[in-house]
Amino acid sequence: MATLIGGITTSHVPAIGRAIARNLQGDAYFKPFFDGFPPIHDWLATAKPDVAVVLYNDHGLNFFLDKMPTFAVGAAPEYRNADEGWGIPVMPPFQGEQSLSWHLIEALAGEDFDLTTCQEMLVDHAFTLPMALLWPGSAAWPVKVVPVCINTVQYPLPSAARVYKLGQAIGRAIRSWDADQRVLVVGTGGLSHQLDGERAGFINKDFDLKFMDSLLSDPTWATKYSITDLVELTGTQGVELLMWLAARGALGEHVRQVHRNYHIPISNTAAGTLALACR
Ligand code: DHB
Ligand code: FE
Repeated sequence: MATLIGGITTSHVPAIGRAIARNLQGDAYFKPFFDGFPPIHDWLATAKPDVAVVLYNDHGLNFFLDKMPTFAVGAAPEYRNADEGWGIPVMPPFQGEQSLSWHLIEALAGEDFDLTTCQEMLVDHAFTLPMALLWPGSAAWPVKVVPVCINTVQYPLPSAARVYKLGQAIGRAIRSWDADQRVLVVGTGGLSHQLDGERAGFINKDFDLKFMDSLLSDPTWATKYSITDLVELTGTQGVELLMWLAARGALGEHVRQVHRNYHIPISNTAAGTLALACR
């Protein structure tokens, strides 16, 4: 059976992509964020994942407001990126792990999750930037991928409790995949940020740090909040922390922290990174 090695959750702000493209990782503005990654690179070098299941929210590249699935799983042989207009370079294509895609789809449908299955799928900055952060300078990505989209864009959104349960089901599915493969879960988005409206620029450091702590000490803590509560507490786009909850749900009971980082702001966002290994 496959081994679930752990999970990495991080922000996916487009400015990160521009900084990578312009080699600004050591710039005073970006350094505190990029400094969060070398210890994670060291862990990845020894943990050696073969596959990454990437939980993220599409921002309009693959799904738009006219058709927005609550949960969507990629089952394509290859995933391409495209120009979203942020001024960040298009990434090389990602190779799909179709065997795990279909196993995941069967398992999640078997647990009564209603999915959209995507045999063609474009992946946006929320997928590509975390990949570029985890494997910098990769001409060819060292892992195959399975993208999983969770809607945090078009209301109504799935509740935090539902998303945590989805994560748990993803974890069960990965562990029951009959393949001698090492699987990493990646969750992208958040932490607190609001890009528009009266509270544009809103950040809630106190909540973000409590949330990060909770993923180690009390992983279902945030599931008590409604979506409205979460938007109030973290901003309209801060609700992307749902991806962190799903990723944590996948990892099961026993985890240890590999590394964490939190820096305000990158663009409008409180940028967090957390790496957890399964024990
Ligand atoms: C920003 C943050 C996001 O999560 C995103 O998807 C786009 C932009 C920002 O802070 O600029
Ligand atoms: Fe986003």
